[in-house]
Amino acid sequence: MNMKTILAIFGVLIVLAAVSQAQMGMMRGGMMNMSMQRHHYVMRNGLPEEYAGKHNPPGSNAEDLAQGKTLYQSNCAACHGARGLGDGPAGESLNPRPANIARFAKMPMASDPYLFWTISEGGTPVKSAMPPFKSVLKEQEIWQIIAYLRQM
Ligand code: HEC
Repeated sequence: MNMKTILAIFGVLIVLAAVSQAQMGMMRGGMMNMSMQRHHYVMRNGLPEEYAGKHNPPGSNAEDLAQGKTLYQSNCAACHGARGLGDGPAGESLNPRPANIARFAKMPMASDPYLFWTISEGGTPVKSAMPPFKSVLKEQEIWQIIAYLRQM
């Protein structure tokens, strides 16, 4: 093998390593960081009865969305990240990590009652660091945040 061949092989190896790193990053930021223990909790126990019938009052408008965005940025972004990817600075050292809610909010499991319960009760039922918001936010404010999450 001459020097050129050796260098070419090295080059290929470096490219392969970079590609697999990028794929790992996508897994972490993309699908791996939804809240598995919350999903398991709901599959085992269902939602508490008082949340099962909760539905977003129809007709959220542009003002609700703007309000939802402001509320999201001040109450949620520190952990879930400005774009909802689960990458906020305050979440870095948490275990479990904050979820990628921009992605989760578009999945079938993310029903109105599920999201309303999650935000109201926070991490209490699943023993995570997410704070409960039921005594911090008004019901209408929680719905505004949910409307914002759905179109993030
Ligand atoms: C102190 C950090 C922190 C803050 C602030 C926070 N969360 Fe969370 N959140 C978490 C963590 C950690 C999880 C994952 C464990 C769990 O489900 O509780 C989570 C999970 C979630 C989930 C569940 C996602 C899934 O896959 O089921 C939703 C929805 C959510 N958060 C929404 C919000 C919203 C909306 C706010 C603001 C009103 C907020 N969170 C504020 C830490 C936080």
